Amino acid sequence: RESERGLRIQNIVDLFPIFADLDQEAREDLLLLFQPRAAAPGERIIRKGGRPDAAYFISSGAVQVTVDGREIPLGPGEFFGEMALLSRARRSADVTAIDYCQLLALPERDFRMFVSKHPGLRAQLDRLAAQRRTMNREP
Ligand code: CMP
Repeated sequence: RESERGLRIQNIVDLFPIFADLDQEAREDLLLLFQPRAAAPGERIIRKGGRPDAAYFISSGAVQVTVDGREIPLGPGEFFGEMALLSRARRSADVTAIDYCQLLALPERDFRMFVSKHPGLRAQLDRLAAQRRTMNREP
C-alpha cells in the first residue's frame, strides 16, 4: 500500500514538471485534491468568456487551445485553465479535447488554497501565464 502510494506520487511529479520542486507532503496534498475527469474527442472543456471552475492537468491525451484563430495543442504533462484562476478573470480561450483524455481537475478553491501555500509554484504559474498572454497578444 505504502509503496504503491509512493509510486503514484512519484508518477505525478515525473509527469508534471511544474510540480518538480514540491516536497513529498505537498505532493500528497495535491493527490487528495485532484479530481479525475475524462474527456472525449470534440468535447469542449473550457469556453472562452466563461466563468472558471477548475484548472486541468493532462495525464493522457491531447487538447487544443483556440484563441483568436490560433490553435495551440497541449499534451500529457501540460495544463490549462490556470489563467482565469490566477487573475480572477473570465476564460481567455476555448479548450477542446482532440483525443480521449484523462485529466486531473483541481477545483478553483483548492487551486487557490494550494498556490497560496506554495509561493514558488505560484511564481512559476504566473510566469507561464504571462508568456501565454503575451503570445496571445502577438499579431
Ligand atoms: P484560462 O484563461 O483559465 O482558460 C483558457 C486556457 O487556455 C487558459 O487559462 C490557459 O490555460 C490556456 N491558454 C490560453 N492561451 C494559451 C497559450 N497561448 N498557450 C497555451 N495555453 C493557453
